[in-house]
Amino acid sequence: MLESQLSRLATEAKRLRSRHLRDLIAEPGRFERYSHRVGPLFVDFSRQKLDDEALAALGAIVETSRWTEARDAMFRGDAINASENRPVLHTALRAGESQLPALAPRSVLAEIASTQARMARLVDAVHGGNDGGFDLAPGITDVVNLGIGGSDLGPRLAVEALRASGVGKVRCHFLPNVDGHRTAALMRELDPKRTLVLLVSKSFTTQETLLNGHVLRDWLAAAYGGDRVAADRHLVAVSANVEAARAFGIPPARVLPMWDFVGGRYSVWSAVGLVVALAIGMPGFRAFLRGAATIDDHFRSAPWSANLPVLLALAGLWNRNALGFASSAVIPYHDDLAELPAFLQQLEMESLGKSVTPDGAPVAQATVPVLWGNVGTNAQHAFFQALHQGTDIVPVEFVGVIEPSHVLRANHEALLANMLAQGAAFALGKTYDEALAEAHDSSDGDRHARAAQRTFPGDRPSTTILLDALTPESLGMLLALHEHSVFVQAHLWNINAFDQWGVELGKTLARTIQPALASGDSARLDASTRGLVDTIRRR
Ligand code: F6P
Repeated sequence: MLESQLSRLATEAKRLRSRHLRDLIAEPGRFERYSHRVGPLFVDFSRQKLDDEALAALGAIVETSRWTEARDAMFRGDAINASENRPVLHTALRAGESQLPALAPRSVLAEIASTQARMARLVDAVHGGNDGGFDLAPGITDVVNLGIGGSDLGPRLAVEALRASGVGKVRCHFLPNVDGHRTAALMRELDPKRTLVLLVSKSFTTQETLLNGHVLRDWLAAAYGGDRVAADRHLVAVSANVEAARAFGIPPARVLPMWDFVGGRYSVWSAVGLVVALAIGMPGFRAFLRGAATIDDHFRSAPWSANLPVLLALAGLWNRNALGFASSAVIPYHDDLAELPAFLQQLEMESLGKSVTPDGAPVAQATVPVLWGNVGTNAQHAFFQALHQGTDIVPVEFVGVIEPSHVLRANHEALLANMLAQGAAFALGKTYDEALAEAHDSSDGDRHARAAQRTFPGDRPSTTILLDALTPESLGMLLALHEHSVFVQAHLWNINAFDQWGVELGKTLARTIQPALASGDSARLDASTRGLVDTIRRR
């Protein structure tokens, strides 16, 4: 952002310092003006520490940024991922479900359609229908998704969140990490002859996925007395590096493509979502795409002032750059959304954790806050103390679901009441005088301490997102909402949301440390790493 824009935001923030959220919320009509609905998705910004003037300042920034041109360039397939010279076309993956005409190149749309058709046939084959030429092992009851980062987080979130929409044909398991504890446990738990292993890796070079792939392949082969051909009928790959998947030994018929134009953390809509389709069926997967497409259409057509991804981005930018909050929390009040914070951590922090512009210049403002969270109400009994009374303010995003998929009404009402209460407590707080009035049974000296300890400063912002129900469609909307909010923030911060050079250095170093751990030859390592390697080896 420009220096002048940042200073305008600073002026607005200073002006608002004297206005407590309690007073802002009391303004007539505020809730109606600051909340928006798109289909089954409702977002309330009325608890953000913003007023109309501050919002207008943010609106002026987004309007002058030519965000609509940037947005259309993405949908069209321009090479907006400049550092890798790639288009960014995860939106094309759901264009088939969109109401607006697709902007992506026809060839891309055709490839996507044919891959989705293959996915549908594969799902049918695994579910016990026609084998369709995949030559799969029959009688599959369990599926293991081997993949990490974007090849794990989106699919795992979707499978867990959509438990209630499952078609009940297979059990799904996820093995992202190289930690052998989980790998060994899964091998003990599952019957290899009834297990399908999905090797999901865009690059097909990821150490964790390939290492586990070799381990599970040996496990399968052992079950067939060393017959690798029979064992390999339990393997399917999803990758943009189809050659590497073939070299691993997976025949082309069982390799589903994805493409360089789909970033890992944006890939659940592609064949990377195969495990989701296996869990909820292909019609369910299409409904998931349809939800995302609904937000794509909304993002492409609504003005900034009613555009949910833009407003979510502006609220985040306001909290980060005007109010200076360095972290933000996401708290889903639904156990099936337990993986949402982890998914958003990758989406937001891998996309926006940058400090230089595409030209290599330092950015003009702070970028992504640290994002973290856990499900409510568990989180209330863990870290909410700090959110209410700690010295740092952490904006919170609450996610609630209106209609549960169970019949325990009282449980669900308690859950939602807790969520609403926490947001109210963050915003309104409790004044010292209110606390003092309640401290009536203490002596004078103690009364002050008691009241001070029981004062809640309030004025702590939150956004509340409500889904009518947790369905494939509403989950698709929720995820696409965040994807586009990230896009808008990256655009305003002038950073590339679609590369991730920051993960490379550690990967490279691990490749030199692993041989040292195995052989003990640590001489070429730095002194600290050498000390740690030697300590591990001595034990
Ligand atoms: O290390 C980061 C990363 O490249 C992520 O961006 C990606 O989602 C993950 O690793 C997995 O990569 P792949 O799908 O290529 O195995």
